[in-house]
Amino acid sequence: MSAERPAEDQEPVRDPGSGGPAEPVSITVCPDGPLLVRGGYQLLDGDDRPIDPGRATVALCRCGASSIKPFCDGSHKRARFRAR
Ligand code: FES
Repeated sequence: MSAERPAEDQEPVRDPGSGGPAEPVSITVCPDGPLLVRGGYQLLDGDDRPIDPGRATVALCRCGASSIKPFCDGSHKRARFRAR
């Protein structure tokens, strides 16, 4: 027996800011590179203040070498970052 409720019983995910349906968020792990975030995300700093990414899709550094953290600046290639 499935624990999932039928689709007609489920509430749509709401965007807390607008009250409307939230846009789905996807995160793509690039091989030996950044995380690509798309959709209805909100990026916050360590004090929960919004960071304006300036674009709909953002690449987040996961190698630690970027000079514009939390964003990827391509330094992962020079650093020869390997995810494994
Ligand atoms: S993942 Fe690109 S600079 Fe870190």
